[in-house]
Amino acid sequence: MAGSSITAGKKAGAPLPATYVTASGLPRYHPVSQALHWVTAALALAVLPLAWVAVSLPPAPLKGNIFVLHKSVGLTILAIVVLRIVWRMIRPAPADPQAPRLLTLIGRVNHWLLYAIFLIMPVSGYLLSALSGRDTPYFWLFTVPGLTKDEGAQKIAESIHLVGQWFVYALVLLHVAGTIWHLVIRRDGLLERMLPVQDGRGSR
Ligand code: HEM
Ligand code: HEM
Repeated sequence: MAGSSITAGKKAGAPLPATYVTASGLPRYHPVSQALHWVTAALALAVLPLAWVAVSLPPAPLKGNIFVLHKSVGLTILAIVVLRIVWRMIRPAPADPQAPRLLTLIGRVNHWLLYAIFLIMPVSGYLLSALSGRDTPYFWLFTVPGLTKDEGAQKIAESIHLVGQWFVYALVLLHVAGTIWHLVIRRDGLLERMLPVQDGRGSR
């Protein structure tokens, strides 16, 4: 595929280097988009067990420390997701010319819902903490100040956070199941779009 002129996103731009095209000829996500994606995925897979452990521990210093980690990882996810959305405006998702339109639409809806829930969760998490008047520590480095205590609003934020977790599970599960389906059943090289070049073309 060396010399391919496949372009990223909807707007046609300059031709992409060969390393921006998968072995089967699909345009890849930009390396920055790939890096941000996999960092978010790793942090998302960390923030959930931290929450499960934190809520199930008996009141003790360890519980507090696990909560600090949960909140700090959650706030990091918030920053990265905001950055991802801004970056996505600069570098839109590459088109997938081989995929049926309905499949592309389902994928895009899943992606936007993932962005939405990974904004809603950290914001509701921060609010449920802050509206009880507490500051939020960030990895024992500094604290994000709390807000004026408001029990009613705090309860709403807490409900959103607790119900929101089920949307996280469903959307991430669908997302990963969809990727596995592409990989094993359709064998259309979709996962490669989100991975760096694997076949040595990057070293030329
Ligand atoms: C992507 C980000 C986040 C995700 C996916 C997430 C997910 C969760 C989950 C699954 C629970 C356990 C709920 C349960 O079963 O009881 C939880 C609890 C909690 N989270 Fe988060 N969280 C995120 C960010 C945050 C942030 C940024 C904060 C605070 C700054 C926070 C504060 C809390 C608190 C205080 C609880 C305990 C709530 C309670 O038991 O009433 N979370 N979170
Ligand atoms: C380890 C599990 C994961 C795998 C295997 C995976 C795989 C992929 C793949 C292959 C794509 C590209 C789809 C395409 O070509 O159209 C993608 C895109 C995306 N993934 Fe994941 N992903 C994982 C975890 C996550 C998690 C936890 C999130 C949560 C935020 C996430 C959010 C997204 C988003 C928002 C996009 C769309 C990017 C864009 O177009 O801006 N992924 N993922």
